[in-house]
Amino acid sequence: MAIDKYMKILAIETSCDETAAAVIGEAEGQPVLLSSVVASQVDLHAKTGGVVPEVASRAHMEAITPVVAEALLGADEDGEKINFSKANEALGQIDYIAYTAGPGLIGSLLVGYNAAKAIAFARNMPIIPVNHIEGHIYSVLPSKFPISNFQFPIVALTVSGGHTSLTLMTDHGKYENLGQTLDDAAGEAFDKVARLLDLGYPGGPAVSKLAAQFRDNFQFPISNSHLSSNDQASNDQINEKWKIKNEKLPLGIVFPRPILNDGTFNFSFSGLKTAVLQKTIDLKKEYGEELPEEIKSEICCAFEDAVVDVLVTKTMRAAEKYQPKSIILAGGVAANKCLRETLKSKVESQMSDVDFLVPEMKFCGDNAAMIGLAAYYHVKRIDTTTWDKVSLDSNLELI
Ligand code: KG4
Ligand code: ZN
Repeated sequence: MAIDKYMKILAIETSCDETAAAVIGEAEGQPVLLSSVVASQVDLHAKTGGVVPEVASRAHMEAITPVVAEALLGADEDGEKINFSKANEALGQIDYIAYTAGPGLIGSLLVGYNAAKAIAFARNMPIIPVNHIEGHIYSVLPSKFPISNFQFPIVALTVSGGHTSLTLMTDHGKYENLGQTLDDAAGEAFDKVARLLDLGYPGGPAVSKLAAQFRDNFQFPISNSHLSSNDQASNDQINEKWKIKNEKLPLGIVFPRPILNDGTFNFSFSGLKTAVLQKTIDLKKEYGEELPEEIKSEICCAFEDAVVDVLVTKTMRAAEKYQPKSIILAGGVAANKCLRETLKSKVESQMSDVDFLVPEMKFCGDNAAMIGLAAYYHVKRIDTTTWDKVSLDSNLELI
């Protein structure tokens, strides 16, 4: 595969707690991912049970130069020894620089922004500000090498720690916001539920692991009707094996589906989080301060079912209204197995001619490959600028 000489993009992403850089090239008129490096701050933030913005910003400061150098050297992961003079030479092969312009934590965004701006200034290079949500939408592309074109229109559900939004994309660069969360993001709700059940940070994977354990034990399929009376009756034998205080599980916990039928494509997760908190308080009165894992796993499963039900139902309603050719699920929460599988099976059974696209697991979380891929299409429509005209916005909207 011959890589085009004049189309190399260096992309930088620092909107939250991952310092990331990637290089995108072009071959036969298609974007090609040449390297992608992500330095995660997860261990750092696990100590405080969440991202402390000041700590994240300082960690980005330390990581940004080595991460950019590694991406320039063609690395695919965060390594140890870096030859900075070779990286500097490789920078000579780059034609464009892209960075995340928002939304995100301002102290984190500033680090990637300043690095990109400095490179654009020093090398007299065109610069491309990319919206983080736009980046997540493009994160489905690396799994489709050689990259086929998106089939428009697209309905995209972007779910992460900072955002939950439904977007209609009619072409590269053409977006309409259909709805978003009115309060907490879906990932944030997972993180908060994990914290109140003492499951550690980040919460999403921990909550979904316990939820899966619950489904496995009771042989419930991944679906949000798992607490139907039929299922409960047929699981009597299994329940015998899983008893607490002579009480058969499952307890039959069901959480509310907030604003499911409000007629909009908006979401709300803070009430659901409060419902989980209240249920946990009540159960602790009955079963003691340290809840048995079986009960925690049922809470996790009921919570995950409620989130997935709302996300999938509203996405399918948007799809019915806008009749897309593709449905995209992206963002950190797209790593959630229950969500991926439920939405996939709904699309396959109800809209079999629609393409369902999800990122590979490694591109669900924040990364710079997605920023570079979005930037590639900015270059194609000659939407680039110069270092003295760029800015940042921690609440940047996708329009
Ligand atoms: O996209 P991302 O890496 O960062 C933001 O832009 O926010 O998303 C991180 C979020 C966290 O809230 C994390 O708990 C959630 O994605 N997450 C998950 C799973 N893996 C990560 N949520 C549910 N299930 C998962 N398996
Ligand atoms: Zn993100």
